[in-house]
Amino acid sequence: MSAFLAHLDQQLETLKTRKLWRQRAISRPLPNAHIERNGQVLLNFAGNDYLGLSQHPQLKRLEAQDVAGATASPLICGHHALAQALEQELAEWSGFEASRLFVSGYQASLGVIPALIGTGDTIFCDRLNHASLIDASRLSGARLRVYPHRDMARLDDLLGRPAPGFKLVISDSLFSMDGTIAPVDELIALCERHDALLYLDDAHGLGILGENGRGAPELFQLTTTQRRRLIYLGTFGKAAGQGGAFIACSHKLADWFTQSAHSYVYSTGLAPAHCASLLACLQLIKQAQPQRTLLKEHIQTLQTLSQYLPWRLAPSDTPVQSLLIGEVEPALQLAETLLQKGIWAPAIRPPTVPRHQARLRISLSAAHRQQDIEKLVQALHEAAQSLR
Ligand SMILES: Cc1ncc(COP(=O)(O)O)c(C=O)c1O
Repeated sequence: MSAFLAHLDQQLETLKTRKLWRQRAISRPLPNAHIERNGQVLLNFAGNDYLGLSQHPQLKRLEAQDVAGATASPLICGHHALAQALEQELAEWSGFEASRLFVSGYQASLGVIPALIGTGDTIFCDRLNHASLIDASRLSGARLRVYPHRDMARLDDLLGRPAPGFKLVISDSLFSMDGTIAPVDELIALCERHDALLYLDDAHGLGILGENGRGAPELFQLTTTQRRRLIYLGTFGKAAGQGGAFIACSHKLADWFTQSAHSYVYSTGLAPAHCASLLACLQLIKQAQPQRTLLKEHIQTLQTLSQYLPWRLAPSDTPVQSLLIGEVEPALQLAETLLQKGIWAPAIRPPTVPRHQARLRISLSAAHRQQDIEKLVQALHEAAQSLR
């Protein structure tokens, strides 16, 4: 066997021994926050369908329409009128001059970050940034400086050090594994002080943060001047219950990405059927005030009911609730015990989270009912007894 393949065998074996082996299951989302997973119907606390829109009958109908794909990159002949309408709506709704569509949030970052910054420049990353942001930063060739999670004093210090080239600060808004929120206003103030730009990944904030679900810029009430320093990423795979992403920014930056973001220039545009679905979805997000209120109630319920568990919930007022376990094996055991009780709340292990911080990631949705959360906490209490 080739030495390379033998090496892979060894690597795979090591992952299994360390209980870090990842496996997929055949999964099908079902109504009312349920999921079919390998043929078993489970109460689902794993998805990011925060507003429960993935099962909305109106959107399911649109997705099913037989409309041709974009057939080419937006720059060749893949920019359909529906894509143009969606970009305009998104820019207006999110409060920016312009927007560009991408097939996913991951692809958006991989294209846009290296288009902004490169060799000789410096990127400043929160330590808990999403993997896509780290990969995109590396791809750019810029020097990478990492600051501790939400530590603005440290970021100020790093930004103040003499460095050649341009500076780009990159942060999640709502951190996907901890549920914490970045101090976006302070990030922008630091960017202003040190002449940097801010790339903000609002994958988990869009639809749920802010009075009207317009995400972190609305939550922090960013002014037009502040927004000029911001490149905003919104995705449709979480609260929108669909898939795809957009970058919102100034006209100038959007024009620049149209020239130079490779994942925009060299990738097939979003299918028109998908754009139609996202336009309808945007209207539903605008009207989703009742779901946002319900979600807040669910967060409160989970926090109150979890008080007497032997594990602590990480501090978070968002639908991302992490039950901190510590080591990998007990986290896996706990997830498995819940699975046997018909509940799917996955264990998250390194390298997705730091070592010794394995956890159950509980994702709340407006599609849950209060009794679903009660059932989850009851199951956790029972698991605590049986795993003692
Ligand atoms: C914070 C964050 N950013 C970006 C992404 C990638 O978005 P997408 O799923 O649209 O590729 C994710 C998805 O897991 C995410 O959690």
